Amino acid sequence: MQNDNLKFKIPLIKPEIDAKKLKIAIDKIARNGILTKGKYLTTFEKKLSQFLGVKYAFAMSSCTTALHLSLIVLGVKAGDEVIVSDFSFPATGNVVVQIGAKPVFVDIEENSFNIDPEKIEEAITSKTKAIIVVHAFGLPAKMNKILKIAKKHKLFVIEDAACALDSAWQKKLCGTWGDVGCFSFHPRKTITTGEGGAVVTNNSKLAKHLEILRNHGGIKNVAGDLEFIENGFNYRLSELQAALGVEQMSKVRQITASRQRIAQMYFKKLSNIDGIRLTIPSKDYTTNFQSFVILLDKKIDREDLRKNLTKNKIESTLGTYAMHAQKAFQKFGYKPGDLPNSYFAYRHSLTLPLYGQMTEKDVDFVVENLKKCLSKYYV
Ligand SMILES: Cc1ncc(COP(=O)(O)O)c(C=O)c1O
Repeated sequence: MQNDNLKFKIPLIKPEIDAKKLKIAIDKIARNGILTKGKYLTTFEKKLSQFLGVKYAFAMSSCTTALHLSLIVLGVKAGDEVIVSDFSFPATGNVVVQIGAKPVFVDIEENSFNIDPEKIEEAITSKTKAIIVVHAFGLPAKMNKILKIAKKHKLFVIEDAACALDSAWQKKLCGTWGDVGCFSFHPRKTITTGEGGAVVTNNSKLAKHLEILRNHGGIKNVAGDLEFIENGFNYRLSELQAALGVEQMSKVRQITASRQRIAQMYFKKLSNIDGIRLTIPSKDYTTNFQSFVILLDKKIDREDLRKNLTKNKIESTLGTYAMHAQKAFQKFGYKPGDLPNSYFAYRHSLTLPLYGQMTEKDVDFVVENLKKCLSKYYV
């Protein structure tokens, strides 16, 4: 699949990479020849754990592999059930299926893109082992309520914080509430390593197991050789990717701040426009605005609108997916529309461009084009 960034005057995102710093790191790696499990990897992991205030952070090849290992180390097995927020990139549900467990999708709230805590308990059965909470688009889920339910029913909590580095619910960073938190560093995320991810935890037992499993299931013996005690994986992040991660972590707060500034411009310019609904800010959270997602009125043809934006070289996309409505999950008995809020968001959400280097003129260009597209519906 080819990257579309060059096709658009205003793409969805532009990674903020300091080419000079990256070149220095690449030169260093080329000279010392250490391309895996080197100093950049340990530095990246240290920076992540310090930033998040957690004891352990393991860089992984993606958020998908981080989620996969999380389920395994928590002991979720074939035949178990896992509650999953329905409105997410399907990796969140796929990993549950990959271990032979059943994803039980729960609808999102009408006014947020996140799991509705009120609907979790009715989905719990004697087979339920864990809840995967998604912080959609970097908007934090209601973690205090979710943790209370998890505690009552003795369920593990995995945070899919793929989009939520530097977002916080009630001042505590996303990814640090649950038993484990998983992050993505795909280029659509706020910081990137090309592909990549991480899993974080405060639990030393889980941490030890994560480290063994991401490294083929091997541990070093006294002679320094690996002994394989489990059937593991190679889910490591390479040294070159980690070097990019170190560069990115040095400015994560600036990246968030610039995204928040651009998002505020959108909020001002898009308020009171017929046909669109914006997310509702709350004192309970801060968000990194990984994506700026709006909801369109039912009568608006989103695909037609997107075509018009594309004609003007503005990139846009849907918000994300109602997993229950995807063919891949229909073997579990779901029909499209079974979870109505998520299904509505899947069909009527729209992601607009947002990146730190966007100027007010760029934002105006997007807003004016959007208004033009909407005007034919509201005469
Ligand atoms: C909520 C969510 N979870 C998981 C993933 C998978 O992340 P990765 O591409 O790093 O595997 C994504 C990717 O878009 C995502 O948005």
